[in-house]
Amino acid sequence: MTVLYMLLLLSALPLIKTTSISPRKQAESLVKWKDGFSSSSSSSSFISSWSLTNLNSLCNWAAISCSKTRTVSKIDLSNMHIDGSLSLFDFSSFPNLTHFNLNGNYFHGPIPSEIDQVTELQYLNLRDNSLSGTIPYQLSNLKKVRYMDLGLNNFNNTDQDWSEFAGMPSLTYLAMSMQADNLYHSEFPEFISQCRNLTFLDLSQNKLNGQIPPSIGQLRELQYLDLSYNSLNSSIPSELGLCTNLTHLFLAFNELNGELPLSLSNLNNLVELGLANNHISGTIPPSIGQLRGLQYLNLSYNSLNSSIPSELGLCTNLTHLSLASNQLNGELPLSLSNLNNLVELSLAYNRFSGTIPDNIGLISGLQSIDLRMNHLEGKIPSSVGQIRELQYLNLSYNSLNSSIPSELGLRTNLTHLSLSSNKLNGELPLSLSNLSNLVELGLDNNLFTGQILPSLVSNWINMESLQLQSNELSGEIPTEVGNMNFLLTLNLRRNHLTGVVPQILGNLALLKLLDLSHNHLSGQIPSFVNTIFLRDFNFSYNNLTGRIPCVFQWAPENAFVGNSGLHGYVDSCVDSIPPRQNRNFKKDNKRVLIGILVPVCGLLMVTTVIGLMFRKKSSLVLNKVNTSENFESLESMILQEEVKFTFAEVVKAVDDFHEKYCIGVGGFGRVYKAELQSGQVVAVKRLNMSDSNDIPAINLHSFQNEIRTLTSIRHRNIIRLYGFCSRRGCIFLLYEYLERGSLGKALYGVEGVNELVWATRVKIVQGLAHALSYLHHDCSPPIVHRDITVNNVLLEFDFEVRLSDFGIARLLSTDSSNWTDIAGSFGYIAPELAYTMRVTDKCDVYSFGVVALEVMMGRHPGDMLESQLQESSKSRRDNVELLLKDLLDQRLEPPTNESAKVVVLVVTMALACVRMRPASRPTMLFTAQKLSAQTLPCLPEPFGMLTINKLMAL
Ligand SMILES: *[C@@H]1O[C@H](CO)[C@@H](O)[C@H](O)[C@H]1NC(C)=O
Ligand SMILES: *[C@@H]1O[C@H](CO)[C@@H](O)[C@H](O)[C@H]1NC(C)=O
Ligand SMILES: *[C@@H]1O[C@H](CO)[C@@H](O)[C@H](O)[C@H]1NC(C)=O
Ligand SMILES: *[C@@H]1O[C@H](CO)[C@@H](O)[C@H](O)[C@H]1NC(C)=O
Ligand SMILES: *[C@@H]1O[C@H](CO)[C@@H](O)[C@H](O)[C@H]1NC(C)=O
Repeated sequence: MTVLYMLLLLSALPLIKTTSISPRKQAESLVKWKDGFSSSSSSSSFISSWSLTNLNSLCNWAAISCSKTRTVSKIDLSNMHIDGSLSLFDFSSFPNLTHFNLNGNYFHGPIPSEIDQVTELQYLNLRDNSLSGTIPYQLSNLKKVRYMDLGLNNFNNTDQDWSEFAGMPSLTYLAMSMQADNLYHSEFPEFISQCRNLTFLDLSQNKLNGQIPPSIGQLRELQYLDLSYNSLNSSIPSELGLCTNLTHLFLAFNELNGELPLSLSNLNNLVELGLANNHISGTIPPSIGQLRGLQYLNLSYNSLNSSIPSELGLCTNLTHLSLASNQLNGELPLSLSNLNNLVELSLAYNRFSGTIPDNIGLISGLQSIDLRMNHLEGKIPSSVGQIRELQYLNLSYNSLNSSIPSELGLRTNLTHLSLSSNKLNGELPLSLSNLSNLVELGLDNNLFTGQILPSLVSNWINMESLQLQSNELSGEIPTEVGNMNFLLTLNLRRNHLTGVVPQILGNLALLKLLDLSHNHLSGQIPSFVNTIFLRDFNFSYNNLTGRIPCVFQWAPENAFVGNSGLHGYVDSCVDSIPPRQNRNFKKDNKRVLIGILVPVCGLLMVTTVIGLMFRKKSSLVLNKVNTSENFESLESMILQEEVKFTFAEVVKAVDDFHEKYCIGVGGFGRVYKAELQSGQVVAVKRLNMSDSNDIPAINLHSFQNEIRTLTSIRHRNIIRLYGFCSRRGCIFLLYEYLERGSLGKALYGVEGVNELVWATRVKIVQGLAHALSYLHHDCSPPIVHRDITVNNVLLEFDFEVRLSDFGIARLLSTDSSNWTDIAGSFGYIAPELAYTMRVTDKCDVYSFGVVALEVMMGRHPGDMLESQLQESSKSRRDNVELLLKDLLDQRLEPPTNESAKVVVLVVTMALACVRMRPASRPTMLFTAQKLSAQTLPCLPEPFGMLTINKLMAL
């Protein structure tokens, strides 16, 4: 019996060896893999079951599933924050693995070529890691794989750093530099087309370039294809039209060119088609009407130049349609009104002519219509009054020449209405007084006549921006304007207004811009003591009399010229009254810079005080949220779905915010390091708030909406916001924690700069550019950071940038009075903020430029920026003399060859970003593309002779 058994066993041995691997062997392999995870990996406790003492219960291990044969079939380590690599994973031990999911970790290094040993694999998800190197062609051997997601990684073409080429003989080096682009990118992994069973393929947010190969048409089972956010630069292959099972196709944010292939109209299962931000030209073919199931169509930011085919009206399932920023022309087809599921329609920035179709009102579910910047004429159809969901309507910059249809007053959900810069006329219909949710109203640069009646404006209690300038309006300014407690901008310039400036305007605590110039106003200027944010004001060219109030004693004279009855300042003006920031910047920039610092800090306090006053005053609008002394009770909490801890754990981990856990104090508040019991480490930011322990409900609500947006942001160069909590009137933000800390620490810390070689610095600047480009151009609504400094740019172990604090400034100043109004850190603030508090994305561009220079120089570029501001002939001469090589961080050897070229490119872009005039600064999208897609073909002059002035002229 035993002998027989032995014999059986022996004969089976070779078989076992090739097809079967013992569970024990698999368990040992997993432990070996796990031992290579970085000890700071926060998940270590979660997979504590993975241990040699526990080898026999493999199938009960966390993250492991087994097949009937008790061997591993699934490994799911998604969102475990593991810092590890795949090199220690023994693929040969898992011949029956069908699912491999590492989504949302910090795995780094390449995908080993041995991956093709898991031949049974059907599901491969490596999304959102730091994997790099080439995508191995062995993936093409995984014939059963149906789902493959390699998005959000760093795959590149070479394991060699370009700086290694620096020492090569010049001929080789020349040949190399001709392929310099490829050194940063990898070609599209064409071999993946051999995985014929793929239904899902996502390679988005990598650095792929080259063409989308025609062979992609062989993936006939494909339902979901996302290649967006790469640098693919071919045309769209017509073979893609063979993948008729496609429901989702995303190719946005590449450099695709050529025309839309007609074959795309074969994809009649398509539900979402995103091709925005490419260079696609030619026509929108009529056959697009065959895509009847389409719900989302985005062709914006391309170079399409046809008209809209009326067949588009057949795609009646469309909910989102954007064709903005092309060169589309012709009339808007009547058939658009068939799209009765449409929620969002954007045709802005094109060349459409003719009239707005009368029947647009049939699309009654539209929430947003943007037709700005076209050549539309005729009337605003009265049927817009039937669009019951309408919240946003922008028809500005056209040639519309009717009056405003009174039916528009029915649309009480409207928050944004812009009809600026048309030829609209007639009186403002009184029905608009119903629009009590309006936040922005722009009727400027038209031909409106009649009066601004008190009953018209009295319900506009949510208004933040009211722009009626450059019309033919007459009569008096109604005192009811003074009830708009949230008003930030009031522009009535160039009308025929008479009467006095209402005293009550001086009570508008948040007002930042007030322009009453070029009217016929008379009487005295009220005192304006409460409008502490007022930066831009203009009373010129009226018939005002009396003396200019003290608060304006530092104002530029031209704010008051053209009023013959106005004399000097009130005699009793004393120095103790704080000056407004309107001193001459050029003559005296040092003092102005200090002038920025003081008010910004001052504002924090003043705002808080005003906020408190203000809230009391309008307690009807702002209900207080109840607070409780119970520590565990939270007023509000939002956590990302994949988060596996509670706020209570965090509070416990930092001993209820004991100072010993505080690891930093930033512009927005204190930061604590919380080591949770699971081993995971998170950073907690406690925001500076007023001392009061209640938050107005209205703010909390908008705050929560903002946070929800921010927690959903996923980008390799942006730090992850896990969630937010409010408790006892404090706001806490939970972020991922990065051990290496800030860029400032890396540049100036004790560890020295040895690790920050030129290639690393270039990578840091590129990463930051990508992060900002994403916030500005890919988020909706766009997010302006407002406070970019070396201290909130954080670094991963491999020096990958992770931008932090994004969106916080906006959070803190959304439509409310009592959030501190922070606009940047001293030394990084754009100069125009000295004149106006209007923060734009160009302010971020400036701060980015400062940080980029700082990274390359190894010190803050303050002196250089100052001399740039002075524009005096002496400082000009200084810049002429200033050599780039002297400007760069002297602690490093000067860069040579290939790295010299990239350094020159970075400094050149940085200098463009710190230009004085905001309009002449490049966008972050342009900057990011330039920095990552291009290197200079050759240096304009030998490196040692390049001057800053020369670079500024490039
Ligand atoms: C893989 O699965 C098959 C069938 O499910 C089984 O016969 C074989 O033993 C398994 N191989 C291993 C190594 O477990
Ligand atoms: C592809 O999938 C089908 C069914 O889903 C299967 O029959 C076929 O064997 C698969 N192809 C390969 C190469 O595994
Ligand atoms: C490509 O990835 C490898 C592996 O991490 C890295 O060493 C190399 O520096 C990268 N190359 C470039 C050009 O980024
Ligand atoms: C497409 O999907 C259908 C239904 O899901 C399926 O029957 C068919 O095999 C798929 N493949 C192709 C190439 O149509
Ligand atoms: C349009 O949407 C409806 C409802 O979701 C769906 O039943 C219908 O099949 C869709 N039409 C097409 C052509 O896909």
